[in-house]
Amino acid sequence: MLMDIEKTLLDEAAIGKRVRELAEQIAADYAGKDLLMVCVLNGAAVFYIDLLMDMQIPLEMNFIRVSSYGAGTESSGTVRILYDLEADITDKHVLIVEDIIDSGRTLKRLSKLLKERGAASVKCCCLLDKPSRRAVEMQADYVGFSVPDEFLVGYGLDYNGKYRNLRFIGTLKPEIYE
Ligand code: PRP
Ligand code: MN
Ligand code: MG
Repeated sequence: MLMDIEKTLLDEAAIGKRVRELAEQIAADYAGKDLLMVCVLNGAAVFYIDLLMDMQIPLEMNFIRVSSYGAGTESSGTVRILYDLEADITDKHVLIVEDIIDSGRTLKRLSKLLKERGAASVKCCCLLDKPSRRAVEMQADYVGFSVPDEFLVGYGLDYNGKYRNLRFIGTLKPEIYE
């Protein structure tokens, strides 16, 4: 697996440091609130666990899986749910945790959906942001790193479902795509 990597963009130490900073900030912002952290499967799973293990406040875990480029046109703004949250989010403070914002469609549709379900608030925390790829207006409330438009793998990010279990984030050698 390691021999498929061309270069490291963010190493384990850099990710760990930034995750702890985000966790501290989020824990301070949500202290005393009824916080439900939503993990967007599969990509966010690694970041999600690291993030909440660094937060020393009471919180609830829940998971959702949506299809980002499946049913529904862009303009419809609907999101196809493949696996739904278990919790009733009414009056809860929801924090959506994502690995990356690319076009912004997944996060935009998801936050709209969760607001419609009556959450007290809906915010987003994203480890990586690729602003140059945005197709719809969307900004996360908490961002780990702004990254260039390169195909990234590791720390949750996949290529054909693989490489999510790398401890760092990097790019693949071109021959892997060929
Ligand atoms: C990726 C990524 C985000 C989304 C970002 O998920 O994890 O969820 O795409 O893209 P967008 O901003 O253009 O909507 P993917 O659909 O690859 O599923 P995965 O998380 O299971 O890898
Ligand atoms: Mn995803
Ligand atoms: Mg993916």
